[in-house]
Amino acid sequence: MGKIVILTGAGISAESGLGTFRDEGGLWAQHRIEDVATPEGFARDPALVHWFYNARRAQAATASPNAAHDALARLEAGYPGEVVIVTQNVDDLHRRAGSRRVLHMHGTLDGALCAGCGHRWPAPSEMTPDTPCPACKAPAARPDVVWFGEFPYHMDEIADHLSGATHFAAIGTSGQVYPAASFVEEARMAGAECDELSLEQTALSHVFDRQISGPATRSVPAWVAELLDRA
Ligand code: APR
Repeated sequence: MGKIVILTGAGISAESGLGTFRDEGGLWAQHRIEDVATPEGFARDPALVHWFYNARRAQAATASPNAAHDALARLEAGYPGEVVIVTQNVDDLHRRAGSRRVLHMHGTLDGALCAGCGHRWPAPSEMTPDTPCPACKAPAARPDVVWFGEFPYHMDEIADHLSGATHFAAIGTSGQVYPAASFVEEARMAGAECDELSLEQTALSHVFDRQISGPATRSVPAWVAELLDRA
């Protein structure tokens, strides 16, 4: 039986109304990475960082999964082998669409992490620099998301999945952030067939066997139908 490993990025949630990072007018055109997505930025101005993630949490809560998320949940339910989603996204749209095997390598907006003692708990809708950790009581709550300079989550498990992949797909990711950008190489070394589904060509398109251009809500359902037909 085959194993399909799917890496998703901000592009899969774009048609749910959540902004991407590097497209024109994307989040990194509006905010400086070093201010809102680094441990140093949080140490300098925790109120700004909480404001940024509170806004993203509120926006994600009002968004709904789109046809691409739905199609990946159908793939997991209907494929006779294994389907694993590794997402760089901090929204919970894969889970809300019904996908069960989802690894959030960059954390989630739903999680809070104590910068002091490392305790984790479900994030309240709004956090401030005064939000206390329920375990150690220190006012050190931060979003449980992985910032630049920090180590992504689940890397050992992801490496295991990639080494056993028969099929790998990257969906809606620009391929500019490592280590996720190196997953296609790992999957290729394992002998996996590699597809890229994105709005347009990316810096990594040449590494894939196939590049499928277009909005995810169109390309992903068609790609899933093809895989289920072939299974
Ligand atoms: N359908 C498919 N792809 C799309 C769509 C769409 N409707 N809209 C945009 N895209 C594509 C863009 O063309 C681009 O290639 O999605 C990609 C989004 O790229 P980025 O904005 O760089 O997002 P991502 O690759 O997820 O970023 C990786 O960077 O800052 C960090 O931690 C953040 O997880 C994020 C990581």
